[in-house]
Amino acid sequence: MTMIRAQYEQRGPVPQDVIAPVEMPIPDLQPGQVLVEVLAAPINPSDVLTLTGEYGMLPPLPAIGGAEGVGRVAKVADDVTKLPVGQTVLLPVSSGTWSTHIVLPAAKLIPLPNDADPQQLAMLTVNPPTASLMLTEFVKLEPGEWIIQNVANSGVGSYLIQLANIRGWKTVNIVRRQSAVEGVKAQGGDVVLVDGPGLAKRVKEATGGANIRLGIDAVGGSATDRLASCLVNGGTLVNYGMMSGEPCQVSPKNFVFNDITLRGFWLAKWFKLATREQQMALYGELTTLIAKGKLHAKVARTFDVKDIQAAVAAAVAGERDGKILVVPKR
Ligand SMILES: NC(=O)c1ccc[n+]([C@@H]2O[C@H](COP(=O)([O-])OP(=O)(O)OC[C@H]3O[C@@H](n4cnc5c(N)ncnc54)[C@H](OP(=O)(O)O)[C@@H]3O)[C@@H](O)[C@H]2O)c1
Repeated sequence: MTMIRAQYEQRGPVPQDVIAPVEMPIPDLQPGQVLVEVLAAPINPSDVLTLTGEYGMLPPLPAIGGAEGVGRVAKVADDVTKLPVGQTVLLPVSSGTWSTHIVLPAAKLIPLPNDADPQQLAMLTVNPPTASLMLTEFVKLEPGEWIIQNVANSGVGSYLIQLANIRGWKTVNIVRRQSAVEGVKAQGGDVVLVDGPGLAKRVKEATGGANIRLGIDAVGGSATDRLASCLVNGGTLVNYGMMSGEPCQVSPKNFVFNDITLRGFWLAKWFKLATREQQMALYGELTTLIAKGKLHAKVARTFDVKDIQAAVAAAVAGERDGKILVVPKR
């Protein structure tokens, strides 16, 4: 029996050009191992940066693409007794999830609800905890407070809106195009504005002059300074992404006269520092919210693993209405 995996042997500036589907035999199971059929795996901006070589940590080559996803147990080694065939499982981080199948140690698999939407569960590992932690790790927000974020129509952005609503905070949401405004409002965004000149004035008018203490930036460049200008004196701006490819800019006016603090967030670092109990508590809460349909991200399109180059190209293209997912056909 064979499987198909999306493999790359080099990194390069055009990410879809370095990866290709490769057919290979499914290895025999060793003691403690499980064969998992992949159900769904997203293509995130960090996956793209891993293909181009710009991400903060890079696997040795050759490598299989895909950092997160979910699968279903298809076969277990004789000594595996606690994972039944048919169980939905969360795939370990960076296990090469753009594959039809993966052989993994049973001990590394976390069971997930079998009755939840696998495409939504496939996006659990990276973006929901990022949104959740940025809301709690930097500023202790009071009930009813406002937060401002850009890339509000992204996966992280939409989880952040939904989590803020659940926890009783209001959101100012910045997008880079008018065509994204209605979708963000439909996700529950309180205020949605298009980035550009006069942003601070427009935010002030739309929020009735709210004192915004937390800003969340994934763009960099001059967009960072526009968010900084919307914060109250002493406010905190958290950068967690580089969609513009430019260094964050914050004017001396915002640093010196408005006492703005600029911080960075990286989920990989949180994983290193958080205890197992903290990780289980956060993922337990997020899994329940996703399984109940209270936390949801739009899916723009799905692709078979065989079409990995078209899938990566679609993920790289801007102005999508949701995430691109690899959903292997059988
Ligand atoms: N630091 C961490 O631990 C961490 C964890 C998770 C995610 N992230 C980062 O979070 C960000 C969002 O990830 P995601 O998976 O939610 O993204 P996504 O769903 O793929 O959406 C990408 C977003 O980026 C916007 N965008 C693309 N190019 C842009 C540009 N040149 N200038 C401004 N906006 C641009 C898109 O706007 P359009 O729709 O208009 O194209 C869209 O809103 C990424 O930067 C990712 O790397 C960081």
